[in-house]
Amino acid sequence: MSDKRISDSMEQALNDQMNNEAMQAQAYLALGVWAESNSYTGIADFFYKHSEEERQHMFKFLEFIQARGGEAKISAIPAPRDNPTDLASCIEDVWQHELDNSKKIYALVDLAMAERDWATFNFLQWFVKEQIEEEALIGDLRDKYALASDEKSENANLYSFDRDMAGASQEGELPRNQEL
Ligand code: FEO
Repeated sequence: MSDKRISDSMEQALNDQMNNEAMQAQAYLALGVWAESNSYTGIADFFYKHSEEERQHMFKFLEFIQARGGEAKISAIPAPRDNPTDLASCIEDVWQHELDNSKKIYALVDLAMAERDWATFNFLQWFVKEQIEEEALIGDLRDKYALASDEKSENANLYSFDRDMAGASQEGELPRNQEL
């Protein structure tokens, strides 16, 4: 193994975020199961795909830590939160979740800057951009839900909302569509 080219504190911070991304993959997976169990199959697909994307994020951190001579430490993932009570609270929860994640990425950028660790700073820019996209994606989900649920008595609106989400653009592939 090559010499370590990140500080101990940066190695720890990157490991924390790597595990945070793994935790998010689990959280979205659990939300997918919840949505599917409640007959929101389009939303379930959206969350399953997003879970895959979070796992890719986790792997990006893993690869970077290893490439810089550090050690990616895989740790236990806390259990996902309890199931949401309804779709509105589910979407609000996911929205807050992404805003919190953006703050965690920004804190890492702050650390890289303070340490003048420009390699890590450069690596993190991908995540800064990604969080812009994630906030836009979940913000869009939130807006569409607000629109669809305006007339709560019209279930047809919720049906079209669900169908809309099935076609929302995502980078992750459904595991069931991947070749094994
Ligand atoms: Fe990996 Fe949703 O941020």
